[in-house]
Amino acid sequence: MKVLITNIKELVQVRNKGENLVAGNAMKALPTIKNAYLLIDNDRIANYGIMNECSNITYDQIIDVSGKLVLPTWCDSHSHIVYAGNREQEFVDRINGLSYEEIANRGGGILNSAKMLELTDEDELFNQSIKRVKEVIKMGTGILEIKSGYGLSLESELKMLRVIKRIKTAVPIMIKATFLGAHALPFNFKNKRTAYIDHIINDMLPLIHRENLADFIDVFCEKGYFNLEDTARLLIAGKEYGLLPKIHVNQFNAFGGVALAVKHGALSVDHLEELNAADINALKGSKTIPVALPSCSFFLGIPYTPARSLMDAGLPLALATDYNPGSTPSGNMNFVVSTACIKMKMTPEEAINAATINGAYAMGCAQDYGSISIGKKANLIITKNIPSYNYLPYAFGENHIEQVLINGRIFN
Ligand code: NIG
Ligand code: FE
Repeated sequence: MKVLITNIKELVQVRNKGENLVAGNAMKALPTIKNAYLLIDNDRIANYGIMNECSNITYDQIIDVSGKLVLPTWCDSHSHIVYAGNREQEFVDRINGLSYEEIANRGGGILNSAKMLELTDEDELFNQSIKRVKEVIKMGTGILEIKSGYGLSLESELKMLRVIKRIKTAVPIMIKATFLGAHALPFNFKNKRTAYIDHIINDMLPLIHRENLADFIDVFCEKGYFNLEDTARLLIAGKEYGLLPKIHVNQFNAFGGVALAVKHGALSVDHLEELNAADINALKGSKTIPVALPSCSFFLGIPYTPARSLMDAGLPLALATDYNPGSTPSGNMNFVVSTACIKMKMTPEEAINAATINGAYAMGCAQDYGSISIGKKANLIITKNIPSYNYLPYAFGENHIEQVLINGRIFN
């Protein structure tokens, strides 16, 4: 099946095959072709070019998109989209003056979500989660990472990861699964942190490996959660089962987690709202990509990741949602891109690079996703009639997407 898209006002994020990461100053450039065509062969991009050269092409279906832009779908490399219920009461509590930390110390926060998840059976958890996944695809997300971490017991972590596995088969987008057993210390391990880490390493990891339930391992490396020593143990254990680290670090405090992650070959370090010169130095020359989550900063009212410092240091940066019930109840990558421009002073080019090709890199999937390149998956956003790609982040809060194509097919 060949689909020809014609009269594309601007084809955005056009890259040569093999270009799978954009860093530093290069993030300022977003290659495009004006007045373009794109040919899809089954699920992949077969060709593209200027309209003048669009002749003698055979196809089965044609889509004329005059006045519209085409860009790769968003690559959301950090989400906790599988969860039960919601935490709207904590939202109201925060408005009334409590901090995220105070709520967590009262047994709210992650432990509150864990309690709700424990009481929710697998089918119900799947039903609640798949609804959210379908919604984010309609908002343009074409590849998504999903974490466990609201289980915090063998049974519930497995339940979450099995739900993620079911989601993989229920939607056409690529899903990557991350095991985040060390998200918080569960009530029954209070004051027994080492024992909980032993439990993760000795009991959870082998089973997760046996059922092939995860691609990555994550740890909430943060004061009051898991320290550097815990994190190192978990990353080493995960790697023994082939799980690359992607870690939560520097959300509220900077104490060396970034360097530790780099040392253990982490694919990404995520959050980084608190970042110092030593963290930036540790990232230089590494393969670890920093990931910023501006919707989380927006929702919690915490600092934004210093994108400019990272990019000025020559580093790459990815943007993701962090979709979760506590700190970011939104999976809208369009909002992430807008917020990155408005609050982090990223240019539209930088933000779009960060939300596409670099997001794909942060999931180890840039060879197949994140840009308009021959041979990559035909996961595409077709916009409504808009003047330019600057308009996407500029006119924030409005839906600029007309259609989403996943594997070359319209997603409804
Ligand atoms: O990325 N920081 C840790 N985890 C999530 C929030 C979890 C929650 O509050 O439920 C985050 O922000
Ligand atoms: Fe997160």
